[in-house]
Amino acid sequence: MKKYKRAITYGTYDLFHVGHLRLLKRIADMADELYVAVSSDEFNALKGKVCIIPFEDRAEIVKALACVKKVIREDNWEQKISDIKDNHCDLFAMGDDWEGKFDFLKEYCDVVYLPRTPGISTTDIKKNLKK
Ligand code: CTP
Repeated sequence: MKKYKRAITYGTYDLFHVGHLRLLKRIADMADELYVAVSSDEFNALKGKVCIIPFEDRAEIVKALACVKKVIREDNWEQKISDIKDNHCDLFAMGDDWEGKFDFLKEYCDVVYLPRTPGISTTDIKKNLKK
C-alpha cells in the first residue's frame, strides 16, 4: 500500500463514537500525518445540522487523539482545495457515504473513500437518546 505524507479528512464528529475513531485510525495508517478539519457550528447550521457538542469541544477531542497531528476548522464547502494546497496534503480521505462526491479534488491529491463502520452514527445515537 502506498504510504502518503499528509492525509486530510473532514467531519463533524458530534458525540464522538467508535465509527469516527476507526475511520481516523485507518486514514492515519495510510500516511505519516493526519490533519482533520472539524466542521464549525456555523457551517453545520448552514447544512441544517445541529450539534450537541460545541465546536471547541469537538475539536479538542479530535486533537487529543494519538493518530491526529493537527485539527483545522471547516467553515465552508469551498475551502478544501486551499486546505489541501496550503497544508501540502497528498491524500484526501472520507467515509464511503461520500463516495464520488469529492472526486474533483483528484486534480490536487489522491482521493479515497473508506468503508464506514456499520451500525453506528451520530444520528442513530441521537435517535436512541430520544426514545
Ligand atoms: N464515519 C464512519 N463510520 C461511521 C460513522 C461515520 O466511518 N459509522 C465517518 C464518516 O464517513 C465521515 C466521518 O466519520 O467520513 C465523520 O462523520 P460524521 O458525519 O461526523 O459522523 P456520523 O456519525 O456519520 O454523523 P451523522 O449521523 O450526523 O451524519
